[in-house]
Amino acid sequence: MAEYETHDFDVVIIGAGGAGLRAAIEARSMGLRTALVCKSLLGKAHTVMAEGGVAAALGNVHPEDNWKVHFRDTMRGGKMLNNWRMAQLHAQESPDRVRELEEWGALFDRTKDGLILQRDFGGHRFARLAHVGDRTGLELIRTLQQKAVADGIEVFMELKVLRLLHDANGTVSGLVGYWRPSGEFVAFTAKAVVVATGGIGKSWMYTSNSWESTGDGHAMSLWAGADLIDMECVQFHPTGMVWPLSVRGLLVTEGVRGDGGVLRNSEGNRFMFDYVPPMFKDETADSEDEADKWYDDHTAGRRPPELLPRDEVARSINSEVKAGRGSPHGGVFLDIATRRTAEDIRRRLPSMYHQFKELAGVDITTEPMEVGPTCHYVMGGVRVEADSTATTVAGLFAAGEVAGGMHGSNRLGGNSLSDLLVFGRRAGIGAGEFASGRNGPVTVDHAQIDAAIAAATAPFDREGGENPYDIQQDLQETMQSLVGIIRTGSELEEALGKIEVLEERASRVSLSGGLRYNPGWNLTTDLPSMLTISRCTAMGALNRKESRGGHTRNDYPKPEADMGTVNFVERIPDPGAAAAGVGGTPSVRSITVTPEPVPVMPDELKALFEEAS
Ligand code: FUM
Repeated sequence: MAEYETHDFDVVIIGAGGAGLRAAIEARSMGLRTALVCKSLLGKAHTVMAEGGVAAALGNVHPEDNWKVHFRDTMRGGKMLNNWRMAQLHAQESPDRVRELEEWGALFDRTKDGLILQRDFGGHRFARLAHVGDRTGLELIRTLQQKAVADGIEVFMELKVLRLLHDANGTVSGLVGYWRPSGEFVAFTAKAVVVATGGIGKSWMYTSNSWESTGDGHAMSLWAGADLIDMECVQFHPTGMVWPLSVRGLLVTEGVRGDGGVLRNSEGNRFMFDYVPPMFKDETADSEDEADKWYDDHTAGRRPPELLPRDEVARSINSEVKAGRGSPHGGVFLDIATRRTAEDIRRRLPSMYHQFKELAGVDITTEPMEVGPTCHYVMGGVRVEADSTATTVAGLFAAGEVAGGMHGSNRLGGNSLSDLLVFGRRAGIGAGEFASGRNGPVTVDHAQIDAAIAAATAPFDREGGENPYDIQQDLQETMQSLVGIIRTGSELEEALGKIEVLEERASRVSLSGGLRYNPGWNLTTDLPSMLTISRCTAMGALNRKESRGGHTRNDYPKPEADMGTVNFVERIPDPGAAAAGVGGTPSVRSITVTPEPVPVMPDELKALFEEAS
């Protein structure tokens, strides 16, 4: 039997980004013994990459804004594939969550009257994003972290979770993992577990995500029997850095376009005017003059095309580059210097100014940036019940990017920070109530712990096997080239074939050295999640025979009515019985994909769309 230390809590939250921190604060406020477990260091989460702001209909800049308009924008941005109830709760509750953050110490930029300032972002009818320059995610994390620590939440950092554990009834009852620095194993028992592990971007070559985003929460929830929905819906943020290569993919905040940045191709054309889809024609300017007027006075004319939702802008940039009108390093030009003064740029976009100056030697107060799409966010994720965030497995809750449904097929910028505040809080309540109602001691099957540890250490018993870094690189190349921004059926089939080979190679990884400070081993234990979610993304994409939001099929270039009413649900029908897959996980070959109806919106909410048309 393997050796491991043990801990016992009422609620354990996996992931210390905004959703995890917010959930922990809520569970703790219910008087519950609450633990926060994170793979990285506290404060280091992808949340910081939501730079430009948190979307909430506060109405500080445009009093006509309200939750109904925000709800409508979010649904239209998601091409109506969203879980309407999640979108409703999100729009209704985000103003309170932002004000609460301010009470806890967040220092937002202000209007002249001292209210929280709001900026424009794509797809939002009004200037709606409360912000702290271009460091909003960082401020959000700083504030939540300070509150969590002050509230007495126990934080377990640099702890990689391998598997969720369940009791004899199948109720989730804890987790097993290891301390990344020492390699020593650790198990937690818990009455309820929240996954708040963020996204999956690290399986693509060019991504705004950092090393933590390996889809652990998505994968371990699936292995535990939970449903995933719409994993094909992956967001490529239109503006990542393209040069130098060492930082390709690093985020260039949408705040640049929100503050007036324009996109041009190599011929100097403001090409976004050529790509306005019918759905957004009425509200989008059709000349530079009209668009420019709007920046000066939002009531004059219509919105500039650079502020279309992200999926539209990313595809347009992709088309320009493919047509040979790209910038020298394979992107397009983003210019803020001609609209804003140098002082304004340095004040409103300080991180962008430094990022380009230090990393690319570009002064954005005088020169345009070179930008192109970068894998940023997954809209698909663990299926949850909207009000409680309960997954389809008892005892397991999910919030933030790891949860699916809220954003449909495409997320509007700024809606992730408000999502994680609204549903982080709800996950804390949901898990807290479940834990409070769970009677008797929590038991786990120790054989599950032994099996997970045996699978994690197996590569040390092999010789002459595969190198985990080669597998990671081949996976990233496969996902980038075959499951990227534009997809076709044959490429997706090819990707699935390659993923199958990579899964087989991953089961033959061999390692030397010990468990302490062994990054090769750390990566080896991430590969099962990365491969599982890559398979799920490709399978979802193959089944969704249409183009919608973040999912674009060249062979099915339009949205299809019958596809707009279904979520593609992926699950392992009997995870306990499935034969062992990579790293001792349930075999991913038994994953099924089923179209299931999207929840139907009630008439009073449907009417909001009729009022607007
Ligand atoms: O562009 C950005 O600042 C990112 C924001 C987001 O993803 O919500």
